[in-house]
Amino acid sequence: MSFVKDVILDVDTGIDDALALILATRLTHALRIVGVTTVAGNVDLASATENTRSVLGLVERADVPVAAGADGPLARPLRTAPAFHGDGGLGDVDSSDWNVPRPPLLDEPAPSFIARLAREHPGQITIVATGPLTNLARALTEDATLARNLAGLVVMGGAIGVPGNASPVAEANFFTDPEAARIVLSADLPTILVPLDATEQVRIQRVDVERVRARAPSRRSPVADFALEICEFYLRACESHGREGAALHDPLAVAIAAIPELAETEPLAVQISTLDPLTAGQCVVDRRPRTPLRPELPPNVHSCTRVLADTSRQLILGEIFPR
Ligand code: RIB
Ligand code: CA
Repeated sequence: MSFVKDVILDVDTGIDDALALILATRLTHALRIVGVTTVAGNVDLASATENTRSVLGLVERADVPVAAGADGPLARPLRTAPAFHGDGGLGDVDSSDWNVPRPPLLDEPAPSFIARLAREHPGQITIVATGPLTNLARALTEDATLARNLAGLVVMGGAIGVPGNASPVAEANFFTDPEAARIVLSADLPTILVPLDATEQVRIQRVDVERVRARAPSRRSPVADFALEICEFYLRACESHGREGAALHDPLAVAIAAIPELAETEPLAVQISTLDPLTAGQCVVDRRPRTPLRPELPPNVHSCTRVLADTSRQLILGEIFPR
C-alpha cells in the first residue's frame, strides 16, 4: 500500500520555491498538498503570495488553499534576494497577466492555518518549509499542542559542514530569521534538515536548460516554458556569482519529503546562533560525545548528508520538464 504524505508547503516563492511547488504537484503518488503558506524571504510577502497563487494556477491547482503569513522576520528587518530571484521573485516573469484560475487567498493567517489543520488532523501533516521559518515559529509559539499534532518537518535550511550562502557561516533561510530557526529547531518535532551540504550536490546546469529549449514548442507546455524562463534567470544569477550551475535547494527538500531514501541522514544536535553580525543564522553543531556529566542537547534533527544526486536531479528535472 503506497503511503501518501499530507503536506503543507511553507514557501517564500522565489524561483526555486516555484520549481518546488511545480514538483510537489507532480509527485501525487507520494504527496498530497493540503495547503500552502507564504512568508517573506526571497521577496516581500505580497510578491511571495501572488507568485505562489500564480504558480498553483498555472499547474491547474486552484483547489489548494493558500494562507499568507509573516511579512518579515520575528526580530530583525527583512532582507530579500533580488539578485537571485528578481525584484518580483520569478526572475523576469510577470505573472500578473496570466489568465489562469488562481487559488483564493484565505483570510486566516498562516500560523493559525497551520495550527488549525494540525489540530484537525493530529499526527498526519508534515510541514515542508523552504523559506525563513517565521510562520512555523509563530504557530509553535501560539499553539503549545502544535509540535505533537504535526507528523514532522522537512526544512530546507542551514549549512553544517559547508560555507554559508548568505554569510560565511549561514544559509539564507536561517540567516533571514535566525530567531525563528532557533525556536523551530528547539521544538520537539521530528525534523529532517536539508542543508546546503545536501542541496549544493543537486544542480541544474546550462546544458539542461539548452536541452529543454531545443525541444519543439509543440512538445513544451506553458508550465515548462515558465520553468525554463525562471531557470535561465536563476542560472545567470548563480553564474554571475561565480557558481557552476544552480543548486535546486527547495525542489530537493520536496523530493526528500516525498522519497526520504534519496538522502542519508545523521542525527545532529544543532543550535542556531542569533549573534550579529558574524554568526547570525549559523548552525552550531555539538558533536561532543554525551557523558553523564555533560547531558548536552540531544540530537534534534536528522540532517541530510550524502544525497543520490543524479537520481534526485533526474527526478526533479524529469517532473518539471516531462518529455
Ligand atoms: O539558501 C537557499 C534558500 O534560501 C532557498 O529556499 C531559497 O529559495 C532561499 O529561500
Ligand atoms: Ca525558498
